[in-house]
Amino acid sequence: MAESLEQMPKTDTMRLRDRFIGQSCKLFYKSSPLKIVRAEGQYMYDEKGNRYLDCINNVAHVGHCHPDVVRAGQKQMAQLSTNSRFLHDNLVICASRLASTMPEPLSVCFLVNSGSEANDLALRLAQAHTKSRDVIALDHAYHGHLTTTIDISPYKFNQAKGTGKKDWVHVVEYLRNYPS
Ligand SMILES: Cc1ncc(COP(=O)(O)O)c(C=O)c1O
Repeated sequence: MAESLEQMPKTDTMRLRDRFIGQSCKLFYKSSPLKIVRAEGQYMYDEKGNRYLDCINNVAHVGHCHPDVVRAGQKQMAQLSTNSRFLHDNLVICASRLASTMPEPLSVCFLVNSGSEANDLALRLAQAHTKSRDVIALDHAYHGHLTTTIDISPYKFNQAKGTGKKDWVHVVEYLRNYPS
């Protein structure tokens, strides 16, 4: 029989999550959360072996657990994992490969760890270029969990008690004519 990927019953996982994980880290499907124990390609599997087509997970860009990505990650972590202020061949090779896929004006890279950091950096670049702080954001949009990205995320700042929308953020509606 295949080894179980569950280390504890789901009720215990939920109890420990309530106890040790901040309440602002929201669960999907709160009334009946999914416990996902493994994934492969476009599918995720719960503790009972039920398979789900993953249409929402934005982490696994090339499918879950792609063997080439897993192999490359394992190889690099076994060799070196440090910050980008040392010279390293892989850093410049990766950057030049990325640049080769972009139009000519986009020829340099800032490598970051998350969407939130990318958007924070994009805000700083835009502010430096325009000398303006104003931002247009789509209603309901989510741009990340940093202070700067919460400020431009109606999805977040509409829930944040007492903070709300900043004067320099201009929210535009969308999906107004979306068929119901
Ligand atoms: C549209 C969008 N922008 C930014 C983010 C933030 O990315 P990260 O969680 O990698 O910081 C997300 C994450 O869900 C996102 O969906």
